[in-house]
Amino acid sequence: LGEGFWSLTRYEDVAAAAARPQIFSNTGRPRFGDKSAPPIEVDRPEHTVFRRMLQPYFRPDKVSNLESAAKRLANELAGPLVKAGRADLSKSFTYPYPARVLCEFLGLPPDDADALKGWADEIFDAMPERENDPARVDRAEASLTKYARDLVADRRARGLDADQDLITGLVTHNFEGHMLDPEEVLSIVRLLLSAGHNSTTSSLGIVLLHIAREPAIQTRLRADQSLIPKAIEEFLRHESPVMATKRTALSDVEIGGRQIHAGEQVFLVWSSANRDVEHYPNPEEVILEREARDHLVFGRGVHRCLGSPIALMELRVAVETFFELTTWFELDGPVERASWERYGVTRLPMRMHARELVNQREGI
Ligand code: HEM
Repeated sequence: LGEGFWSLTRYEDVAAAAARPQIFSNTGRPRFGDKSAPPIEVDRPEHTVFRRMLQPYFRPDKVSNLESAAKRLANELAGPLVKAGRADLSKSFTYPYPARVLCEFLGLPPDDADALKGWADEIFDAMPERENDPARVDRAEASLTKYARDLVADRRARGLDADQDLITGLVTHNFEGHMLDPEEVLSIVRLLLSAGHNSTTSSLGIVLLHIAREPAIQTRLRADQSLIPKAIEEFLRHESPVMATKRTALSDVEIGGRQIHAGEQVFLVWSSANRDVEHYPNPEEVILEREARDHLVFGRGVHRCLGSPIALMELRVAVETFFELTTWFELDGPVERASWERYGVTRLPMRMHARELVNQREGI
């Protein structure tokens, strides 16, 4: 980050800054390629146009249409692992599953998921703030851009139904007089190809880890599966996978007695706000009854995560699938975590007790 930055860590400050996009801008140094990626890296009024264009594809009916595919994919991946009895779920489940669901959502061949995931990870890992390997970033960028370019060309040629297919919608829609140019389409597709699965992978690791290491919670959730959605949001409040996102101050502003000057970078630290003791009593504890729907796991304000309904559906389906296939699961060795600024689980060894085997033993 070079020149230094401010961090807002209290709930009240983070939420207030997220609600003032006219002062805390999302433009600045692009993070998802060499150009600003709409909608996340543009401000109003452009942002509104992109957001309205994308929103219909994330409606509840679209998400519920995707659910049966998510269920099939979760079963395909988890089935053999549960049968084997042990596996590192980070490699064999939390990593591939969200990318496959994303392929389904965007109408891409399922076999492309691994390549997409690989490029997105290369770019993230080799960025200046991590391994700082510009050549690796360039290589992966070039592959991802070529993929997105071919995809856009394919959709132009095929003439699919724009209401059903998001990418066809982007290349054909004329929205309020704004026709996207090919580079804009490319940036949006590239953003979705990377933003649409990495955070879900981290979240899935966090959720499965919580359930595996806290037997009382696992017992409760198995007994009353209607608690699963709320539990997922509480796990993610407790450990928020997207720890922070950056803004640039557009004018001088004072927060907590400190003067932030125009042009300075400001991190909204969602993960810290989600553990602010002034907002959540006993924030270090996972409390399933907690009323914490106002958490900042998916951000706040105009840039609030567009994909959150898909992500929450995917996470629920994954937990339900593991509950269906097993009578119990528990950790099977040391866990490894990734830190800043994506807070995931990179090693998640699990021992799983297959329901089928138990049923066979008991003659059911
Ligand atoms: C549990 C998984 C996820 C988490 C924790 C997460 C988190 C976030 C956060 C914190 C933001 C706000 C960034 C900011 O204010 O600068 C965001 C924005 C966004 N997310 Fe997600 N996300 C997840 C899954 C997804 C999925 C599955 C998709 C797409 C399929 C997606 C697409 C987007 C997009 C397009 C934006 C930009 C919205 C805008 O600028 O208007 N996300 N996400």
